[in-house]
Amino acid sequence: MTIADSLLMQMFGRPKGLLGRLGGFILARTKRDFTRWAIDLLEVQPDDRVLEVGFGPGVGIEMLATMVSTGRIAGVDYSQEMVEQASARNAKAIETGLVQLQYGSVEALPFADDTFDKALAINSLQVWSNAMAGLREMQRVIEVGGQIALGFTPQSGQTSAGLTEMVTAAGFRDARLVERERGFCVLAIA
Ligand SMILES: C[S@@+](CC[C@H](N)C(=O)[O-])C[C@H]1O[C@@H](n2cnc3c(N)ncnc32)[C@H](O)[C@@H]1O
Repeated sequence: MTIADSLLMQMFGRPKGLLGRLGGFILARTKRDFTRWAIDLLEVQPDDRVLEVGFGPGVGIEMLATMVSTGRIAGVDYSQEMVEQASARNAKAIETGLVQLQYGSVEALPFADDTFDKALAINSLQVWSNAMAGLREMQRVIEVGGQIALGFTPQSGQTSAGLTEMVTAAGFRDARLVERERGFCVLAIA
């Protein structure tokens, strides 16, 4: 890994330390529009149980909290710095019990089978240490018929080639690609 790659990883990949804190602030200010678009594709309902993997500074969690009322929202992120930023941003919803955020990895999700109706990950899969294991874990914790959205902006460096095939190999069905001007999303059913 080059020095530049290592700095980008500390800032955005798995935000850590001062650089990670700065990375979180940048993400919170620059990804709002894309995050909204990806969440809208999931057609979240008030009673949905929704998981966000790699929630970063928690902007997506904040949006979800305006859509879900009787359901629940959970998030897992592999950066302590992001758990802190997202928890501060969503303090009220955490206090009411609507939102639960925790440190952890997508490759070992701390949930029972079939816990969620919907799940999303934005600009995150490209930095998971084992993308296939992470997708299989997401498939495990989503109820049959539930949906996922995996969103990517150009900054992620992720290409769409092979992604629907990968999602299908992880156990999802009806995987499809939805594109927009600056980014794309893979949608699939568990
Ligand atoms: C580029 S940031 C994107 C954050 C947020 N989704 C956004 O769009 O602003 C990638 C996020 O994925 C998290 N992440 C990386 N590897 C992970 C893993 N194995 N499990 C869960 N989260 C992970 C990072 O800690 C980071 O918060």
